Amino acid sequence: MTAVDARRARREGRGATGREPATRLPAPRGPVTATLFDRLTRPPDDSPIPLDVTGAELGDDDFQLALFACYELHYQGFDDVDERWEWAPPLLAARMELERRFEETLAAAVPRPPLDGPVEVRRALRELTADDDGPSLSAFLSRRAGLEQFREFVIHRSIYHLKEADPHTWAIPRLRGRPKAALVEIQADEYGGGRAERMHSELFRATMRGLGLDDSYGAYLGRVPGITLAISNAMSLFGLHRRLRGALIGHLAALEMTSSLPNRRYAIGLRRLGGDDTAALFYDEHVQADAVHEQIACHDLCENFAAEHPWLAGDVLYGAACALRLERLWAEYILGRWDAGLTSLRHP
Ligand SMILES: [Fe+2]
Ligand SMILES: [Fe+2]
Repeated sequence: MTAVDARRARREGRGATGREPATRLPAPRGPVTATLFDRLTRPPDDSPIPLDVTGAELGDDDFQLALFACYELHYQGFDDVDERWEWAPPLLAARMELERRFEETLAAAVPRPPLDGPVEVRRALRELTADDDGPSLSAFLSRRAGLEQFREFVIHRSIYHLKEADPHTWAIPRLRGRPKAALVEIQADEYGGGRAERMHSELFRATMRGLGLDDSYGAYLGRVPGITLAISNAMSLFGLHRRLRGALIGHLAALEMTSSLPNRRYAIGLRRLGGDDTAALFYDEHVQADAVHEQIACHDLCENFAAEHPWLAGDVLYGAACALRLERLWAEYILGRWDAGLTSLRHP
C-alpha cells in the first residue's frame, strides 16, 4: 500500500492495511474533550492545550475520555490523529494535568491498605482480594441477566479485553530477575503462547461475534461511560510511569486473583443465553489460566518484587486496591442502571 493509498484508506475509514475498520476519535463529551479533540485532529504544533480539569470526578465522562484518548496514542492510536502527537510536548503537558487530577481522585477514593512489612505482601493481597464484598455482577450475569444486558457487559469489557494484557506489559522492561520472569510467563499466556488465535484479545473477539457485536478495535469507545474508561486509564497510568511499577504489578495481581470464579459465572450466563462453546471460550480459558496466574502473580511476581523493593511494597497493595475499587464502582454503576430499567451504555 502506498502512502497515498494509506491516506485514502484512513479517510474512507479503513485502516492502513485496508482490512481493519478505522478507529476514529469518538464524539467529544464536554469542554475538555472538545478542546483536546479539536487539536488532535490537526497536525501537531507547539502551542499549549489548555484543559480545565479542576472539578472532574472519578467517573466523569468528559475527563476520562480525554485521558483515555491521550493514552490510546501509545497503543493502537486513532486513524484521524497524526501519529506524531504521541510524543508532542503540548499533548504530554495536557496529559500530565489530566493525570495529576486522576491521581488525586484515585487517592481520595482508595485508602492505602495497611501493610505490616514487605514480607506480608502475599498475605495482604490475599486478604484484600478475599474481602471484596461489592455487588456481584457475575452472579447477576450467570443467573438473571437478559441477552441485551449480557451484550452491554461485553461492550463495556471490550475496551480492555481487545487490548488485554497490553497495559501490564509496560512493566516488563522495568523489572528484572524472578519478578520479570513471572510477568513474562503470565503475559505469554495472555498473548496466546505464540498462537495468534489463542490470544485472549482474539478469544474475546469471538465472544463478541457470537453475540452479534462488532469485534473491531475501539468500535464501542463512544458508547461506554467514564467509569468504564477509568478502569483502563488506571492501568495505563500505572503502566506508563516507571515510578508506579509497584502499583502496576499489584493491579495485575488483583485482576488475576479475582478472575476464576467470575469467569466461571460469565460462561454459565452466556451458555444460559444460548452462547456456544466458541463464544464462551474466552471465559472458560480464564477459569483455567487465572487459577495458575493467581499463584504466579501473587507469589513469584509481587512477593518477590516487594522483597527486593521494600519501599514499593505499599504501592503493590495500593495498585491492587485501585483495581478492586474501580471494578466495584463500575459494577455498582451498571447494576444501578439496570435496576432502574435503563441501559448502562451511552446513546442507546
Ligand atoms: Fe486473559
Ligand atoms: Fe490471566
